Amino acid sequence: MVSEHEVRPAVRSSAQVLVASNRGPVSYTLETDGSLDAKRGGGGLVSGLSAVEDKLWVCAALGDGDREAVRRGVGEPGVRMLDIDAGVHADAYNGIANSVLWFVHHMLYQTPLEPVFDAEFRRQWASFESYNRAFAEALAEEAGQGAAVLVQDYHLALVPGMLRELRPDLRIGHFSHTPWAPVDYFRLLPDDIAEQLLHGILGADRAAFLTRRWADAFIGCCTRILGGTGRTRIGVHGLGADAGFLRRRAHEADVDERMAALREQTGPGRRTIVRVDRTELSKNIVRGLFAYRELLDERPEWRERVVHVAFAYPSRQDLAVYRDYTAEVRRVADEINAVHGTEGWTPVVLHVKDDFARSLAAYRLADVALVNPIRDGMNLVAKEIPVVSDHGCALVLSREAGAYEELGSDAVVVNPYDVSATAAALHEALTMADDERAERTERLAAAAVALPPQQWFLDQLDALRREA
Ligand code: F6P
Repeated sequence: MVSEHEVRPAVRSSAQVLVASNRGPVSYTLETDGSLDAKRGGGGLVSGLSAVEDKLWVCAALGDGDREAVRRGVGEPGVRMLDIDAGVHADAYNGIANSVLWFVHHMLYQTPLEPVFDAEFRRQWASFESYNRAFAEALAEEAGQGAAVLVQDYHLALVPGMLRELRPDLRIGHFSHTPWAPVDYFRLLPDDIAEQLLHGILGADRAAFLTRRWADAFIGCCTRILGGTGRTRIGVHGLGADAGFLRRRAHEADVDERMAALREQTGPGRRTIVRVDRTELSKNIVRGLFAYRELLDERPEWRERVVHVAFAYPSRQDLAVYRDYTAEVRRVADEINAVHGTEGWTPVVLHVKDDFARSLAAYRLADVALVNPIRDGMNLVAKEIPVVSDHGCALVLSREAGAYEELGSDAVVVNPYDVSATAAALHEALTMADDERAERTERLAAAAVALPPQQWFLDQLDALRREA
């Protein structure tokens, strides 16, 4: 399945620590002059892995630039990018991972009409199997004797089982960065597919999750569908924020510049309700806007005195449902501005172009952070904002976010479907006394950094080596 163009290392790397994920730590763009521009990504896994020396990251080529890089033999040391056939990858990533598995674990279906498991689904599932097999084969080829292999996420749920057959000597871990569906919802999947997915992950020595709740849901599925989890151990590792990096980065000059620009946009003296998300269906951005609209409708005293700063960065735009959702976010924001806006006041400041420095600027100046996902594996924004906040920030947090397990006691907690309750929570957060807000922010920040990314990764590695 991996193309014959792919350049493989002449000597087997025999790495002792391997990580596998769909999206890798680097991506390439093909420029008009034919050159390749490399962009390095961030995130918990990248920073977690920096703690380990002898490692290999196996990932998929995601776009034309990545494929061209593989063909030209351009690459980063310690990264092997798999040039899986583009059609197979699209079926596996967009068709199965994003449109089925993501929907199941985040409970996103509108069930009267979806999901539909038909012949087209079976065709895409065959691609999903091939794509997982390509990873399993590459890992089997690269891993040194007895190496530890850490497989990431729902995209690669079949890899542990496949790899176990190819290389019984390896220590295999699987980590889910998403929630896990409760068993009744998981059983929307065809029975054989549900079993295959569970068996796939149970091919690992350890299956780990971000919270106890998601781990218990997985155990519940295994127990009800398969009769148990077999020899696989279950772990919980709640990824925290990277305080050192964030605090340093948040005080660089470009962030200060963006703070000044944002203050200009919000107007002097106004309170800010900040949200920063990918425009992801599970993030519940539209209901967040509805709640803000209800706040302005029901409590006119806030008009002209508050601004909702909403950053909704593009995500999965190959899928029509994501494009439609993005359009709906814009439409509702525009509508609020049209109904409530005045000459000197724009009630919603919406930005859709990804800009990390601007996100940090918004984190620093937020009076209230709105994190109201329908369901979320963890939600690092909820952890990052209290860490970099300049003068304390009240957190309105969904009880369906993984972060709720660690942050719930100092947040204003909401049911993400209850728009009126969210509007009331925004009011409560906006009126929180300064000293209480400061105290809560301090406790939120302490909880948020309890397990920094490097320790998070090393703990998993240790447990895998110890328990396997
Ligand atoms: O945030 C959960 C997560 O599963 C991450 O682990 C993963 O990187 C991401 O979602 C997948 O998003 P994308 O489809 O943009 O790669």
